[in-house]
Amino acid sequence: MRIVNVHLLDRACSIFIGGGARCQLANLIRDLGGIMRVAVVADQHVADLHLERVLQGLGISPVILVFPSGEQSKSLRQVERLYDGLAEARIGRRDLIVTLGGGVAGDIGGFVAATWMRGIRFVQMPTTLEAAIDASIGGKTGINHAAGKNLIGAFHQPVAVVVDTDFLGTLAARDYVAGLAESVKHAVIRDPAFFEWHEQRAAEVVARASAVVEELIARNCEIKAEVVARDEREANLRMILNYGHTIGHAIEHLVGYELRHGECVGLGMLVENELARARGLLADQVAERVAGLIERLGLPARLPRALEPDEVAATCRMDKKVRGDAVNFVLVEALGRPKRLADISDDEIAAALAVVQPR
Ligand SMILES: NC(=O)c1ccc[n+]([C@@H]2O[C@H](COP(=O)([O-])OP(=O)(O)OC[C@H]3O[C@@H](n4cnc5c(N)ncnc54)[C@H](O)[C@@H]3O)[C@@H](O)[C@H]2O)c1
Ligand SMILES: [Zn+2]
Repeated sequence: MRIVNVHLLDRACSIFIGGGARCQLANLIRDLGGIMRVAVVADQHVADLHLERVLQGLGISPVILVFPSGEQSKSLRQVERLYDGLAEARIGRRDLIVTLGGGVAGDIGGFVAATWMRGIRFVQMPTTLEAAIDASIGGKTGINHAAGKNLIGAFHQPVAVVVDTDFLGTLAARDYVAGLAESVKHAVIRDPAFFEWHEQRAAEVVARASAVVEELIARNCEIKAEVVARDEREANLRMILNYGHTIGHAIEHLVGYELRHGECVGLGMLVENELARARGLLADQVAERVAGLIERLGLPARLPRALEPDEVAATCRMDKKVRGDAVNFVLVEALGRPKRLADISDDEIAAALAVVQPR
């Protein structure tokens, strides 16, 4: 098992990574102190698959609060249901919430933990690659509003993150591969050596070789935690985590249920690299290396259907307008060298989109 220790928002947090890491939960409950009751907030599908193993040897019987799988559960209605469950179980200020599932479980369970009695402790047990390497680190929690995704939320840091890689085994291949897009993102913006590591180990990464998966998760946790931790001093560094996401979110919005989030991010990185290449910021050879890796990992390199270029550009702007943000693009000038640009035109977006349009 690997342990990554991170310091975020004035709090130390250990991330336990490995097969059987779930056993750490009993130790955590004992060591944190003062815990009388535990509530597990779990994704229905994940609970069916893995809850029994989580509960084995826990030494305490938690109250189980299950929510329906899927993004629609990031709603006030589900949050209210969870509050009802916490009230009924008399979960108090010194008690603990454990979230079990993908990014949705972490976001909704973390938000409930952030707001119940003005914030109680919680442990994340991410069960998707997306959640293990991205969503569970950084302390962002929240739910959606009709006006947009993640508009309601709070910063609340988990006391620990437990990534039991045994649980990732039941993840569909497509969901696992989609999560790899965030790993490519972290490597491209922050760590050229880690990018090369992906190139050398692509086959083992895709085959989910356990030692390789553990190493991948650990390095991603370090990168994300380092970027988030520095944001407190270097205002807005955290923005670099949006690489691939400005275009990616627009594609996600327009293509909707046909693609996974990570698949949209992969396409977003390709388009954003093209924006950088067209401006002469990024060498052809680097853009080709990133595209080559995305393809070898099995992420789509083309859209499932053609999108109207103007519509993609307008969607990028709309999403930011809802949040009152300027449209900032994070492009890369080289591996490990992200650069923020605010002056990308709709014409440039439209031209760059051609690299991912179906042939
Ligand atoms: N807080 C953050 O910083 C942050 C960062 C990135 C993403 N997110 C959020 O995370 C969410 C996406 O996360 P996700 O991709 O994990 O989605 P998800 O939680 O919906 O999980 C995807 C699907 O996989 C299933 N699943 C989960 N674990 C499984 C397993 N081990 N075996 C089999 N099936 C399993 C779930 O039931 C679900 O149907 C979005 O809501 C996004 O906004 C948050
Ligand atoms: Zn993402």
